[in-house]
Amino acid sequence: MTVSILQTSSAPAALHAGHPLDPLTGEELATACAIARERMALDRHERFAIARLEEPAKAEVLTFDGSPESAPRPARQAFLVLVNTTTGVSREVIVDLGRGEIASEHTIPNGEEPYGQPPVMVEEFSLCEQIVKADTGWQAAMRRRGLSDADMALAQIDPFSSGYFGRDFERGRRLVRAVSYYRSELKDNGYAHPIEGVVAVVDLIAKRVVDLVDEAEAVRVPKTKHNYDRDSWSETRTDLKPLHITQPDGPSFKVDGWKVDWQNWSFRIGFTPREGLVLHRIGYKDGERERPVVYRASVTEMVVPYADPTANHYWKSAFDAGEYGLGKLANALELGCDCLGHIHYFDIPAADDLGQPFVMKNAVCMHEEDYGIIWKHYEFRNGLFEVRRSRRLVISFFATVGNYDYGFYWYLYQDGTIQLEAKLTGIVQTAAVAPGKTYPWGGMVTEELGGPTHQHFFNVRLHMIVDGDGNSVTEHEFVPRPWGTDNPHGNVFDTTSRLLARERDAAREADGRTGRYWKITNPNVRNSVGNAPGYKLVVMPSPLMLAQEGSFVRTRGGFATKHVWVTRYDAREKYASGDYPNNHAGGDGLPHYVKQNRAIANEDIVLWHSFGHTHVCKPEDFPIMPVEYAGFTLKPNGFFAGNPAMDLPPERNGHSVDGRDLPGPAGGSCCGSR
Ligand code: CO
Repeated sequence: MTVSILQTSSAPAALHAGHPLDPLTGEELATACAIARERMALDRHERFAIARLEEPAKAEVLTFDGSPESAPRPARQAFLVLVNTTTGVSREVIVDLGRGEIASEHTIPNGEEPYGQPPVMVEEFSLCEQIVKADTGWQAAMRRRGLSDADMALAQIDPFSSGYFGRDFERGRRLVRAVSYYRSELKDNGYAHPIEGVVAVVDLIAKRVVDLVDEAEAVRVPKTKHNYDRDSWSETRTDLKPLHITQPDGPSFKVDGWKVDWQNWSFRIGFTPREGLVLHRIGYKDGERERPVVYRASVTEMVVPYADPTANHYWKSAFDAGEYGLGKLANALELGCDCLGHIHYFDIPAADDLGQPFVMKNAVCMHEEDYGIIWKHYEFRNGLFEVRRSRRLVISFFATVGNYDYGFYWYLYQDGTIQLEAKLTGIVQTAAVAPGKTYPWGGMVTEELGGPTHQHFFNVRLHMIVDGDGNSVTEHEFVPRPWGTDNPHGNVFDTTSRLLARERDAAREADGRTGRYWKITNPNVRNSVGNAPGYKLVVMPSPLMLAQEGSFVRTRGGFATKHVWVTRYDAREKYASGDYPNNHAGGDGLPHYVKQNRAIANEDIVLWHSFGHTHVCKPEDFPIMPVEYAGFTLKPNGFFAGNPAMDLPPERNGHSVDGRDLPGPAGGSCCGSR
């Protein structure tokens, strides 16, 4: 740590004049870290694993939003997680920026079962590599596999979150499990050259290897190059003509600081080190009414358990949000590459491991997209023809977590639909396979390389506020009605409805056979046809966690054993996997929250949805897999009195041309008779 950091002023930050949910400014982050440093007499071994806004209580925010001029301004607070890199002591600290004081401080009980550590920090990536490369056992294992000293210097070391298996050396320790890859040069794709059968367990506090696996049979290191950079693919296709998206009059959204308005929608952008993008206060202006839908939406966790029982792989189950931080690993997006069209970028203020503020440039991208047809009808009897194009607002970010790259795309539609789509790309985990053998734990992706079968689970947390406080969740299914006097032709089927009254009844699985779905309604309000207005959660009935009951990964990733969970809102229950999944023995998060079995009907509720993709690797995934998609939609269901997109203008796109060389339309409308 440099002297300049210690000299940072810890005077209270200038009073924040924006909205209480605005992310902390760089100045506020610097001040918060400086206050902690001074008041707690932190030495140079302390690191800031997390620094973010401590969001004010929902009630305070609602009061403030009701009358921003007269309501009390909620206290501006920072939430910090400190890690002492020599003692391993980790603390949560809340700094009150207005008063320039520590508001609360407590030590994370990471030495007591079930343990749990703050996320792996950026500097620990290089620390892990140094420790592993200096270890004589690891060096011997590399030599046995034919690596020279120069090869070892170039080797890629992945500091994989370690999981937890109840071994003595794992209890209460801050560990990563390091796997190694050969590289012929720095830009060589190491994942093409996995070094099988060698795993170093690294204690990041003791700064040494505490366990080294070096299997007796040394599998040959695959050396064939599989690179993806442009120099390796210089022969590119030549038949692509330009495709431009132009908005000559600019986009249709309005941005005011962190607040966005678009097509009756309004919301606020937030961003945290763990979750990345957060959408606050999603609401829809329906006529003169501002109608709230979701108070807060974010992806709070994801886990990727691998299904290979061998030394390099069985323990792999990265919790990319809680063990690394999706926000911390967010990409700086490139205009015209990551994002096409008229883009609005949000730069995110952040603090590094040393508590130094910096700006995450272009971390969040927002733009409009054409999305085909939103509604249409042609009436052949009278020639009436009406069609409207759909446009959606895209708010997204991308995080690179080791070998994988994940995009998180929120979409808002003009018909009131909300969608989240996770995009999965990057490089699959690889396993070296001896020449002539096949890989038994997944699919071969190329010669000498297998890809272990695995699952990706995301969990989205939706703090619902459909038409205000007091929401309920009902479950619905389609069931055939038996033959009888009420079904004389056998064609009738029913849609069941069941109120989920308590948390334990509300841990639910999807069922494609019965089309099971859920509605979030406000029973205190009536819609145009006399029912409670609501939104429908539409899920993909993908497989849940397939690891066995009793396995550590299932216990640690319990949120992925159900598709749907509903909890009564508690500000302390923020994450599907619990607060500190890193090196955690398991049992925290959603399965723990719902043990309280609180009443959830007509209450302040949080809807949690686990979704994902079960991935059997194949040659097309290599060297970089094309995007795979997973996600869900929230569709208005009795929320509006009719199709809310009827009022879309019928303008014809005048830039469109008929490719048969006929003249294009000069404008006009998408309606009329023909
Ligand atoms: Co995958």
